[in-house]
Amino acid sequence: MLRTPLLIAARSPRCRALVEHSPLTRGLVTRFVAGETLEEALPVVAELTRDRLVTLDHLGEDVTDTAQAEATVAAYTRLLAELDRAGLAGRAEVSVKLSAVGQALPADGEKIALHNARRICEAAARAGTTVTLDMEDHTTTDSTLGILRDLRVDFPWVGAVLQSYLHRTEADCRDLAGPGSRVRLCKGAYDEPASVAYRDRAEVDRSYVRCMRILMAGEGYPMIASHDPRMVAIAGGLAVRHGRSAAEYEHQMLFGIREAEQRRIAAAGGRMRVYVPFGTEWYGYFMRRLAERPANLAFFLRSLAGR
Ligand code: FDA
Repeated sequence: MLRTPLLIAARSPRCRALVEHSPLTRGLVTRFVAGETLEEALPVVAELTRDRLVTLDHLGEDVTDTAQAEATVAAYTRLLAELDRAGLAGRAEVSVKLSAVGQALPADGEKIALHNARRICEAAARAGTTVTLDMEDHTTTDSTLGILRDLRVDFPWVGAVLQSYLHRTEADCRDLAGPGSRVRLCKGAYDEPASVAYRDRAEVDRSYVRCMRILMAGEGYPMIASHDPRMVAIAGGLAVRHGRSAAEYEHQMLFGIREAEQRRIAAAGGRMRVYVPFGTEWYGYFMRRLAERPANLAFFLRSLAGR
């Protein structure tokens, strides 16, 4: 019931000012965000990569001018060089939101985003690691998959995210189940209309299972991004059925969520990757995490009421 208002608030500047300026939200934010600077995030990555893999997200989205998009490219270039220098690039890749590199700019946004994403891919290639393109709301799906196709000509290892709540996603899974393809399958975190998305949780879950079946039966590399114990178990069963070894797919979870389960999967020999966001632009990401789980919201409201 609260999911929709929270996701609307995630895009409201007024709510943003209220939440960002409350010192009481800090405790909860640090549960989901590995720090505001690269210097704070790197030790977290070093610790996590002892038993798990990592994908790093330099927080930011919906940039409104080319200078901000440039700053995002510079931040990723520096991040990738530092991962390389610290010897972490073998176990840590990066995740990029195309709206942070210009996709939403009114003039030539798509062209600018492709150019900037290409520069980040070049930096990743220099560091010896990979890039995965995050998926944002449904109005960007075609553009993001188009940019993915272009990038994969030169960088065949670029990964995509698909969201099982969208009606179109089974077809997208079929398109992206070929050799060399890396697909991160998630349920979807935005507020989408019933015309394009399943709004019922059980339907989203059923779609997730159908999509997993396609990806696991395919020739690509499935990345099962879910904390849901049923999805984790079904992924394991499908991998066995399709003769995939533990090295031929991976589980992914968000930093700060189901840590014990992350360790359990890694200790059992599974490939377990943690999505680690860092940076000062944590508001949108944080609000989507609140929307996913009422218990997070109750905790957050209690801390605001204590002002
Ligand atoms: P579900 O929401 O059913 O949660 C299952 C269980 O996980 C819950 O019962 C709870 O125990 C735990 N849990 C889930 N969310 C929690 C939270 N916020 N706090 C505490 N516990 C929680 N989405 C998107 O639209 N575009 C994207 O690019 C990505 N990228 C992405 C990368 C990775 C690695 C992950 C894991 C997820 C994403 N997502 C995403 C988010 C995704 O779409 C989805 O919103 C969340 O993962 C929650 O869905 P679950 O599959 O975990 O199931």
